[in-house]
Amino acid sequence: MDAFRIVGGRPLKGTVRINSAKNAALPLMAATLMAPDSKLLGVPDLSDTRSMIKLMASLGVAAEITPSAVKGAPGMDLACKVTSTEQSQASYDIMKTMRAGICVLGPMVGARGEARVSMPGGCAIGDRPIDLHLRGLKALGAKIELDGGYIVVRAPGKDGRLIGARVFLGGPNGSTVTGTANVLSAAVLAKGTTVIECAACEPEVVDLANFLTKMGAQISGAGTPRMIIHGVDSLKPATHQVMADRIEAGTYVCAAAMTGGDVVLENFPTDTLAAAIDRWNEMGVTLEPVNLKRGQTFEPGLSDSVRVVCERVIRATEIVTQPHPGFPTDLQAQFMALMTLAEGNSIVTEKIYPDRFMHAPELQRMGAKIIRINNVAVVSGARGLTGAPVMASDLRASASLVIAGLAARGETTINRVYHLDRGYQQMEVTLRALGADIERINVKEG
Ligand code: EPU
Repeated sequence: MDAFRIVGGRPLKGTVRINSAKNAALPLMAATLMAPDSKLLGVPDLSDTRSMIKLMASLGVAAEITPSAVKGAPGMDLACKVTSTEQSQASYDIMKTMRAGICVLGPMVGARGEARVSMPGGCAIGDRPIDLHLRGLKALGAKIELDGGYIVVRAPGKDGRLIGARVFLGGPNGSTVTGTANVLSAAVLAKGTTVIECAACEPEVVDLANFLTKMGAQISGAGTPRMIIHGVDSLKPATHQVMADRIEAGTYVCAAAMTGGDVVLENFPTDTLAAAIDRWNEMGVTLEPVNLKRGQTFEPGLSDSVRVVCERVIRATEIVTQPHPGFPTDLQAQFMALMTLAEGNSIVTEKIYPDRFMHAPELQRMGAKIIRINNVAVVSGARGLTGAPVMASDLRASASLVIAGLAARGETTINRVYHLDRGYQQMEVTLRALGADIERINVKEG
């Protein structure tokens, strides 16, 4: 199995272009089911997006892959062609490798009137139910049953169309991101008007709404808790550039700050990271806009280039993960790594996935002082980390261990980096270009 070997202690220096977002690309790819010849530009080349291409092929959508035309961006452009509408089953074989395969549920039932999707299993970051997805589709009139591990969803009536309705998507931990994507996609081709209350406000949902709008959908309120969708009879093909990855961007900010380097991040999605920027600022990490012309002021809302600037001492802080625009759970593990080097005690409260702390014991193996009680962890910083063999257990936990390894004294081996390959494009290549001593090795597991 692939592992990373890192010799820590080298400050990162140079420029990185942030790739497009995995969590935007996956529902966008699923949405191509609904219009015959759409194109997605800058899809990140990851094991998850490759799995989605396979899943789409099994559902009759062929993707012609060409390398992204953007200089310095190693992503893919996908020309997606609906070749058949016969197949409606998202099989267990693919779904077990990628939970986000659930994103095909809404587009399938919306466009074809029927979907059979393997029930996604549990996952290292805790329980990940889909009751809200199903509740939303049921409100649109769908008939839902479980058959041999598959969720079977059918539109009512002979015309195979769902019926617009008022849908409430609030759950115990807030809204649901992929659940909102599913209900939104399904509602676009429903008869009548759908109002989604407690819709997820995540930027990836807005990116999906923008793509669907280009296809001819009528959507208002994307990015707010109330979305209104007027159903249309058909959609037309559209071309769309996938938004920049706010989590990849945040991971590289933490890496630069932990190694005390000088890093410029291009294509940085500043407007999607307000909560994280607020916390970095409190810790003494600021993002300075670069390449502004004389007299020009930084305009929030633009993807831009920023330089990561750190004060000599990183200070402790508190984070509470929340739905967007609150602090993102997908950056919690990377912040925890940064907190291990801060002066004072930091507090992490995880409100989205209360058990998402698999990185904590691994960071402790590297010398971090962390006490966890239920969904709260206290990190006592400023002691420095030392390299150790550690185990990656999920995507963001792996990212946290990599950046800890970059800052640690000595050698760190991170096993099972296939988790990382699901969401970070060529991370070791990017980090090596910034001066890190990191290599991908193959280790035999007993
Ligand atoms: N929830 C329910 N019922 C549901 C769905 C969700 O109770 O039907 C709960 C979950 O248990 C959780 C909360 O609602 O406590 C939020 O879950 P959500 O459905 O929003 O998560 P998701 O859509 O499955 C996406 C990202 C995750 C990210 C979460 C939260 C994708 C493909 N995945 O998952 O990304 O952590 O939103 O922001 O978009 C990652 O990239 O590492 C990752 C795990």
